[in-house]
Amino acid sequence: MTRRPIGIIVNGVTGRMGYRQHLVRSLLAIREQGGVPLADGTRIWPELTLVGRNEQRLRDIAERHGLTDWTTDLSAALTRDDVEVYFDAQLTQQREKAVRQAIDAGKHIYTEKPLAESSAAALELARAADAAGVRSGVVQDKLFLPGLRKLKRLVDGGFFGRILSVRGEFGYWVFEGDWQPAQRPSWNYRASDGGGIVMDMFPHWHYVLAEIFAPVRAVTCVAATHIPRRVDEAGRPYPATADDAAYGIFELDGGIVAQLNSSWAVRVNRDELVEFQVDGTEGSAVAGLRGCRVQHRSVTPKPVWNPDLPATESFRAQWAEVPDNDEFDNGFKVQWEAFLRHVVAGDAFPWDFLAGARGVQLAELGLRSAREHRRVEVPELGR
Ligand SMILES: NC(=O)c1ccc[n+]([C@@H]2O[C@H](COP(=O)([O-])OP(=O)(O)OC[C@H]3O[C@@H](n4cnc5c(N)ncnc54)[C@H](O)[C@@H]3O)[C@@H](O)[C@H]2O)c1
Repeated sequence: MTRRPIGIIVNGVTGRMGYRQHLVRSLLAIREQGGVPLADGTRIWPELTLVGRNEQRLRDIAERHGLTDWTTDLSAALTRDDVEVYFDAQLTQQREKAVRQAIDAGKHIYTEKPLAESSAAALELARAADAAGVRSGVVQDKLFLPGLRKLKRLVDGGFFGRILSVRGEFGYWVFEGDWQPAQRPSWNYRASDGGGIVMDMFPHWHYVLAEIFAPVRAVTCVAATHIPRRVDEAGRPYPATADDAAYGIFELDGGIVAQLNSSWAVRVNRDELVEFQVDGTEGSAVAGLRGCRVQHRSVTPKPVWNPDLPATESFRAQWAEVPDNDEFDNGFKVQWEAFLRHVVAGDAFPWDFLAGARGVQLAELGLRSAREHRRVEVPELGR
């Protein structure tokens, strides 16, 4: 077996996403499985350089996982010839500058979403990556969730007939930080630090809607900051200036209407933290992170509105579970493997910086819709 080592800078490895999903669940898991196999039997082998701001925290992580290569000097790491890929899971606000530096250093780049804080900046990065001849990718992990893979399978198999609407609920209660610590970093709730649920979630909704259903042509959004005061990691109260809930209506090609609620100020009364109900002329489905249930028109009950009587049917029990029929690996890891094959073997990888820029564009237009209290059309974003 031939190993093809590939040097990867992992920046932001001390963060929630950088550590758990990208380092542990993706890159180290790829090493544990013996690398990423290519058609000719070669295995791509990630060689990792951990980058961050705090030496002690980097050393701790490296030692915990038997790694030896770490530094707080990104510029120096980018000059190394044995490094081919730059990965960024830093706080969103730090991303643009670091990605530009990596492009200038001629590295291929893979990054968390959102790619930048504005679509103009994201498009600039896409153009700069093209001009430099480097390959680019942006995380679009939700596409690889088992529930959404099953939903896509239903769409591809023609289960729905004509799709009418999509109704999505995403969210959970993020503690304010006073009597119980918050379970998300405080920067998410400060506009000045690049926080806000629209910038966080609309990039996801963009690719979920476009890839599973149809392109988004217009957005109407109401954004709110329901919890105006929170307490940070150090126990200090701060004003929460960023939006913590977004109520969006997305108009898709083919007349499909998608309504997606995203909220960090909602208590969960669903089976999963995100759920999408899709209604079509031939059938309907409810998909979550893992599960997916369907109801075909042939078995659709005929409820009759009568508020004088208690409900006589268990409506949820009238749906059938879609079988897995497949093995579903961690979505972040699956996309990492695809990106590494793209870099080493030139395999197709559609989720590049331009795709990332389209996600940022939808967030930006969602925020504009909220600010101006109006429906906003989504123009085609091209190279
Ligand atoms: N794909 C997903 O589902 C998903 C989920 C959550 C977050 N994210 C994205 O991942 C990125 C990181 O989010 P997170 O939740 O891991 O955040 P986090 O606060 O846990 O981690 C942020 C990382 O950035 C580093 N950093 C660099 N400069 C910094 C600065 N000036 N201030 C603070 N931190 C700085 C930190 O050291 C840390 O390693 C964000 O861009 C976010 O949008 C993606």
